[in-house]
Amino acid sequence: HREALVDFGFSEEQLMIQDVARRIAREKIAPSAEHHDRSGEFPLENIRALGENGLMGIEVPVEYGGAGMDPISYVLAMIEIAAADAAHSTIVSVNNSLFCNGILTFGTEAQKQKYVRAIAEGREIGAFALTEPQSGSDATAMRCRAVKQADGRFVVNGKKSWITSGPVAKYIVLFAMTEPEKGARGITAFMIDTERAGFHRGKTEPKLGIRASATCEIEFTDYVVEADEVLGEEGQGFKIAMGVLDAGRIGIASQAIGIARAAYEATLAYVKDRKAFGQPIGAFQMTQAKIADMKCKLDAAMLLTLRAAWLKGQGQRFTTEASVAKLTASEAAMWITHQALQIHGGMGYSKEMPIERYFRDAKITEIYEGTSEIQRLVIARNETGLR
Ligand code: CAA
Ligand code: FAD
Repeated sequence: HREALVDFGFSEEQLMIQDVARRIAREKIAPSAEHHDRSGEFPLENIRALGENGLMGIEVPVEYGGAGMDPISYVLAMIEIAAADAAHSTIVSVNNSLFCNGILTFGTEAQKQKYVRAIAEGREIGAFALTEPQSGSDATAMRCRAVKQADGRFVVNGKKSWITSGPVAKYIVLFAMTEPEKGARGITAFMIDTERAGFHRGKTEPKLGIRASATCEIEFTDYVVEADEVLGEEGQGFKIAMGVLDAGRIGIASQAIGIARAAYEATLAYVKDRKAFGQPIGAFQMTQAKIADMKCKLDAAMLLTLRAAWLKGQGQRFTTEASVAKLTASEAAMWITHQALQIHGGMGYSKEMPIERYFRDAKITEIYEGTSEIQRLVIARNETGLR
């Protein structure tokens, strides 16, 4: 497969979905990005428009309401959406890769029909609940408990925190301990309907960035899960979570690239326009070095993310490559938005321009779906075989 790694010609279909995403991003998302950032209002109308155009289920087969495209299409579309507004791309990424992906891989036919279609079409919002107040990186230290009853049903009690789209989700993929003594092998995945008794939402978290992506704590008190709402096998939940996150990390890498590209393009325009000491600031060697480094980091992030997506499309294991892509792209986004802000001077610090928003939004990509430290841990464990 080495030769194919340098063939980055995109297919007509891939370019088409990129175009669709770019059009919606420019016409609907970009014009309201500042409003959504300031107000924190959930962009339901735009999410519906994305859903109607196949962008809430890009890799979901057409028979389940999606666009039936490949992982590279997902990367290309996510970049366009994130370049217009990162918060929108967070919502898109959870629906696409954290919600639909796991059900398509591990769900029954009935579960695919019931849960995937509504989410892929953007009629409903999905969420993914792994993290708890005391367990983020150390995900197997979860306490949320699902106890099996004689009739095959489960009763769930416990809390999950930082749940993206938690305030608006209709369905949630939940991970809970079914056999605590078995550790990671005692975790099971469940499908949750947020309209049922025993499900509660906490307040929406105020955040530094991606402010229109709504995040909250959720709580279960004697919530009853029917036997046919178990996702995959009992005890297989942690592997499902990790497998889903492998794919999710390609989405976050793409989000980081979109934010970084927006900051880079704004900077390229600004350095030609803004003058100091009788010349465009882009003519100073110190600025030129920054531009060169921004370009290198952006391209590296893009190529590594395409590699991970390509491997996924080939049906190969891509855990390490997804972590390499997510780590590189998120750190590139943080560095590039930082330099972009510096190059814009006072205007970079002002709400008159979107640069400070890019800077705030970039930070989350180093934290969620596994922090940068966790990506390094995954990469190094896989490379060395040591832990
Ligand atoms: N694919 C399949 N199985 C995997 C796997 C993968 N990528 N990674 C691990 N596993 C399996 C292991 O093989 C092991 O299985 P066995 O018991 O059969 O051997 C089991 O899972 C446990 O693995 P580890 O011993 O490696 O587990 P660990 O406790 O050391 O944790 C970790 C590993 C990588 C640190 C993991 O806990 C992790 O990824 N933490 C970060 C959590 C995270 O990313 N949370 C994101 C929440 S969602 C989110 O954030 C959404 C959003 O922002 C929008
Ligand atoms: P901790 O795990 O407490 O980590 C604190 C610090 O210690 C970090 O710097 C970390 O890298 C470091 N650290 C921890 N372990 C190690 C180690 N072994 N080696 C070196 N350093 C280490 N979760 C969901 O389940 N679903 C969601 O939809 C979701 N959305 C989110 C949205 C937002 C806006 C945010 C902020 C979080 C979201 N999360 C979600 C949770 C997110 O995945 C966690 O915040 C993240 O995994 C880190 O966990 P933590 O916050 O508990 O930090």
